[in-house]
Amino acid sequence: MTRRLTGIFLDTGRVKEVCHYLELGILRGVTTNPTILVKDGVSGGWSGIERHCRQIAEIIEPWPLSVEVTTNEPKEMLNQATEIAGWAKNVNVKITIHGPEGGTENLALVHELETKRDIRVNVTAMMSAQQCLLAAMAGATYVSIFGGRVNNMGYDSRQEVRRLRGLLDAFQNPAKIIVGSTREVLNIVEWFEAGADIVTAVPNLLEGMLVHPYSKETVRMFLQDGLQLTTT
Ligand code: E4P
Repeated sequence: MTRRLTGIFLDTGRVKEVCHYLELGILRGVTTNPTILVKDGVSGGWSGIERHCRQIAEIIEPWPLSVEVTTNEPKEMLNQATEIAGWAKNVNVKITIHGPEGGTENLALVHELETKRDIRVNVTAMMSAQQCLLAAMAGATYVSIFGGRVNNMGYDSRQEVRRLRGLLDAFQNPAKIIVGSTREVLNIVEWFEAGADIVTAVPNLLEGMLVHPYSKETVRMFLQDGLQLTTT
């Protein structure tokens, strides 16, 4: 099977950052979560979240935006998911793989949203290939594994991503693998190499990926010699 990677999503709630990286042509989507939105200063309650997310969705259209529900109460999650999905065509709903105490209700909701309500779901907060496999089996469009947190626990996130890639390919499951929780510039390329379809990166790592000290030195040399060339 020929795999077509999707590319880099930006992990941010800041409109300015979205516009900046979108202009460079390197973004293929944006992901948020409640922690990111709080950190990035989104306020005004539920309508504030809606206003903000609608704005980002409009800016990045047709690329997708992930917005997470803010509750783990099953009925309320379903209501929020339906509402979020209605904000724009390119908005998908983030649902955590399970609640703070575990449980299977979230997976049932993922299945219902995808198969009965035609809502695209990004299953999030996953730390292993086996969790992602179940989410993909339940019908999730995106399965998000938090590579940085996996590494923080002393495991090699690349191995989990490789294993997941092999499993989804073997089952011919169309779920897209998102690897998030970037901590280092190297994570972006190494996770793509391991089999991610999408890496969701924090903005400052993209800067680190782009700028190289030796490129700067080389450009300085070209400019100096260019000046000499054009003035003598
Ligand atoms: C991914 O979709 C998540 O929003 C994000 O990458 C989580 O990363 P963290 O471990 O930095 O919270």
